[in-house]
Amino acid sequence: MRVAGRLAADVLDMIGEHVQPGVTTDELNSICHKYITEVQGAIPAPLNYRGFPKSVCTSVNHVVCHGIPGERKLKSGDALNIDVTIIKDGFHGDTSRMFFVGKPGVQAQRLAQVAHDGMWLGINELAAGKHLGDVGAAIQKHVEKNRFSIVREYCGHGIGRGFHEDPQVLHYGSRGTGLELKAGMTLTVEPMVNAGRPSVKLLPDGWTVVTKDHSLSAQWEHTVLVTEDGYEVLTLGAADRANASNVN
Ligand code: MF3
Ligand code: CO
Ligand code: CO
Repeated sequence: MRVAGRLAADVLDMIGEHVQPGVTTDELNSICHKYITEVQGAIPAPLNYRGFPKSVCTSVNHVVCHGIPGERKLKSGDALNIDVTIIKDGFHGDTSRMFFVGKPGVQAQRLAQVAHDGMWLGINELAAGKHLGDVGAAIQKHVEKNRFSIVREYCGHGIGRGFHEDPQVLHYGSRGTGLELKAGMTLTVEPMVNAGRPSVKLLPDGWTVVTKDHSLSAQWEHTVLVTEDGYEVLTLGAADRANASNVN
């Protein structure tokens, strides 16, 4: 799981410089696909997963998650999430980040920051003996304090030999409730945060999830190992690995 997590993070580190005005999300997909298969000798988990047609998800602006890479050219001011899941030696690593094209708008930047900090506050709750409700409660508190909303229809998940395993990791909830965590569990924390209302809708392509009110949405994701006294984030990028404190 450490190897798979590291490879997924490496893909996000690699793709950042390619996020530029005029590039299409399909071009970003192709660059990721080639890197995963040819450089890493790994498998892009989304490709053909339940019929998903591409190797990464690209979710632009009001797209909440599971955006399908396509011919759309990115333009300055767009904000997008790139979600990478790779399989190496049978194990999955799953991580996503927000990227800005050119200069981000003030609201997009604040939304991405609140989603990022919410994810980290959730991760910081992880330890053997804690409950999944502690994770959800920490995220929900931070997001709602900032007057944004949490998407309810999609959640984090256990991960390992399977892409989406039990348990479901909700990004809202009450302290002390839900599954008790045990050392050795690996799971994702991946809150989707909307600038407006929490409601989402699924587009007719069967994958693309958008905000019902067309407000902006942001998401970050890490794959994390629960340990006796806390956690180990398996998908840190180079910049976060260099920051020995790992407090983000
Ligand atoms: N990577 C997503 C997650 O975080 C799942 C994408 S499923 C796909 O769980 F089929 F859209 F790729
Ligand atoms: Co995930
Ligand atoms: Co993901």
